[in-house]
Amino acid sequence: MAAVLIVGAQWGDEGKGKVVDYLAQSFDVVARYSGGHNAGHTVIFNGHRFILQLIPCGILRPGKLAVIGAGVVVDPAALVAEMDALSKAGYDATGRLFLSNRAHLIFPYHRQMEIAAEAARGASKIGTTSRGIGPTYEDKMSRRGLRVCDLMNTACFREKLGRLAAEKDAICRAAFGKPLEISGIVEQYEKYGERLRPFVADTSALLNRMIAEGKRVLLEGAQGTMLDIDHGTYPFVTSSNSTAGGACTGLGLPPHSITGVAGITKAYTTRVGGGPFPTEMPDLEARDLRERGKEFGAVTGRPRRCGWLDLAMLRYAVQINGIDSLVVTKLDVFDAQREIQVCTGYRYKGTPLTEMPPDVETLENVTPEYRTLPGWMAPTSGLKDPGALPGAARDYLKFISDALGVEIGMISTGPEREATFLLPGTKLASWL
Ligand code: IMP
Repeated sequence: MAAVLIVGAQWGDEGKGKVVDYLAQSFDVVARYSGGHNAGHTVIFNGHRFILQLIPCGILRPGKLAVIGAGVVVDPAALVAEMDALSKAGYDATGRLFLSNRAHLIFPYHRQMEIAAEAARGASKIGTTSRGIGPTYEDKMSRRGLRVCDLMNTACFREKLGRLAAEKDAICRAAFGKPLEISGIVEQYEKYGERLRPFVADTSALLNRMIAEGKRVLLEGAQGTMLDIDHGTYPFVTSSNSTAGGACTGLGLPPHSITGVAGITKAYTTRVGGGPFPTEMPDLEARDLRERGKEFGAVTGRPRRCGWLDLAMLRYAVQINGIDSLVVTKLDVFDAQREIQVCTGYRYKGTPLTEMPPDVETLENVTPEYRTLPGWMAPTSGLKDPGALPGAARDYLKFISDALGVEIGMISTGPEREATFLLPGTKLASWL
């Protein structure tokens, strides 16, 4: 098993951080392929809570390497702050963290542009994380972005940034009637550049070499399938390919190097920000689940919207990503739930849909079809053995697995590292 891919099967926040942290013990390197510090991967162990935004969770496992690939957009201020926080907690990234020389850089003006663009959208705003992610990917695609390799080239960086800033300033004045705030950026970024220099590498060459040497590589997705720029609920998506394909482009790895894909889903569904959400619960029910599941954004603190598990969406996620094995997280949040609803498919104007609608207008008007399953009304949190799962919890998992035609390889019944169970005899277990 050369490279195993971990991908979010919903709208992000599925618990990928925790799963990656658990699996990382069996791998040599963990590599992140898309997004930026809009992601928040929470890992809890030994009574400590770590929220990693850019650095792959593997950094918390002694001796493991961590890679930030070319597909990630990097705010050097955020990266340096995260490195400092880790170092303070006793995790030194030196010699273990590798930053792609091809990754694009986020500048303060990207954040300014994003905040202004969101305000201009009014009620139809996307609800972005205000980290400058979208405008940075826009610059990348319009071929005017600056990359880590530019930051490393001190002779040219000043001139390149100066040219770009003049262009941004003109746009800013025309669009918002005020100049761009750029004072001190060059000097600040030059300092970041020197701090990051020892970590910069050709990470595609590094990963391909490691795979050729038989090393074990874990690929860490950020966000989730339905936030993918091409396959998600556009335009209420992030600006990168968070789905499986993004791992190849974002890390410079050939498709055949990926030998297994694990999709992560909660036992229910959440989303942050605007956009369609067919199985969203009414306010009161959602509030209850939000409290029980502590569904507040790890990065922004925003309350997450909550709803029932959506098998129509998961079926789509299985298809897009080629998911071989599912990890179901937060099963314990349903411990006191008398009845559980599961969406088995959508109808639109009375007709069952066989494919995921591409447009928001249709998806907002589908009628989810539900099956009601009995809850287990017993604690699964604190379980020491997955064999001790209550019968109704097993039935719930079996229902999901049968409906999707995909095994469930792992479950999580609490936020701590220890509350994670690999199910024996599964493909996922065989990859470790
Ligand atoms: P952006 O990625 O900041 O541009 O935000 C675009 C959309 O993706 C917004 O709805 C965000 O709430 C959502 N989003 C971005 N990152 C995450 C994440 O890590 N978890 C959940 N939602 C996210």
